[in-house]
Amino acid sequence: MMSNKETALITGASAGIGRELAMVFAEQGHDLILVARRKPELDALAGSLTLEHEVDVSVQAADLSVDGAADSLFDTLADQPVDILVNNAGVLSGGWFLKMDQQAIDNMIRVNMLALTALCRRFMAPMLERGSGRVLNIASIAAFQPVPSLAVYAATKAYVLSLSEALAVETEKKGISVTAVCPGFTDTDMLHGMDGEKSGVPDLAVLSPREVARDAYAACMAGEAIKVPGLGYALTTMVAGALPRWVLRRVGSLAIHSGRKG
Ligand SMILES: NC(=O)c1ccc[n+]([C@@H]2O[C@H](COP(=O)([O-])OP(=O)(O)OC[C@H]3O[C@@H](n4cnc5c(N)ncnc54)[C@H](OP(=O)(O)O)[C@@H]3O)[C@@H](O)[C@H]2O)c1
Repeated sequence: MMSNKETALITGASAGIGRELAMVFAEQGHDLILVARRKPELDALAGSLTLEHEVDVSVQAADLSVDGAADSLFDTLADQPVDILVNNAGVLSGGWFLKMDQQAIDNMIRVNMLALTALCRRFMAPMLERGSGRVLNIASIAAFQPVPSLAVYAATKAYVLSLSEALAVETEKKGISVTAVCPGFTDTDMLHGMDGEKSGVPDLAVLSPREVARDAYAACMAGEAIKVPGLGYALTTMVAGALPRWVLRRVGSLAIHSGRKG
């Protein structure tokens, strides 16, 4: 059964925040296109969402680190209008920059920046023609300051935030909204993987993927340019915005080390 709500394409829907985003969009009656590499996870989620919410959910297995993946996805979906593009897929590798594996660095740049940019360009073009559409890009609080030992990851997220804000202004009079969501530490495999175990971030500072997804959905539908989920993180970000860069550089380092064991 087709719903009359806008269709959302969600990348990284096989786990974590993306999976919760898929649930929130389905609860609100949106048809969905779910994208990630792990097809069995996507198929299982699609099955349960279709049953529970009577929405149409299709699945596209894709590795967004591969050159041309965004183009292939767009071409495959040529007949299916995408009203809402949700760029959620992301990867994180940390460590001292000079000791990092080059492949891990390239993978972050490919998934977090190159694929996201190409997906925006391809899927926003028909939105422009139709005079309507929404884009929801998942950045991070790491976008607001440099983060020593997560240098490349934070830089990719600063890129996502900057790109999203610029596109929001470029397209605001064309019927398209672009929203950047900047979550803090969120309880997903990414956080658990930061130190090879659940990192030592205090429970109070950890958001649930559910609350991030809910806030992200609301901000996207309201056409907000930037959303920082959770009051604590929103206030911290506001205060941080008033600090000089030399202080921010130190704060980024402290935040990440205080969240780690040992
Ligand atoms: N968790 C946090 O603390 C946190 C904080 C701020 C921002 N974020 C951001 O939130 C987003 C979601 O992260 P998460 O915490 O939910 O992480 P997660 O649980 O590790 O999920 C990451 C998702 O991205 C997909 N993905 C990774 N590499 C991919 C590739 N090459 N091609 C296609 N899909 C790929 C994964 O699917 P497959 O493995 O099936 O491909 C998975 O669905 C990311 O952009 C992340 O940077 C997370």
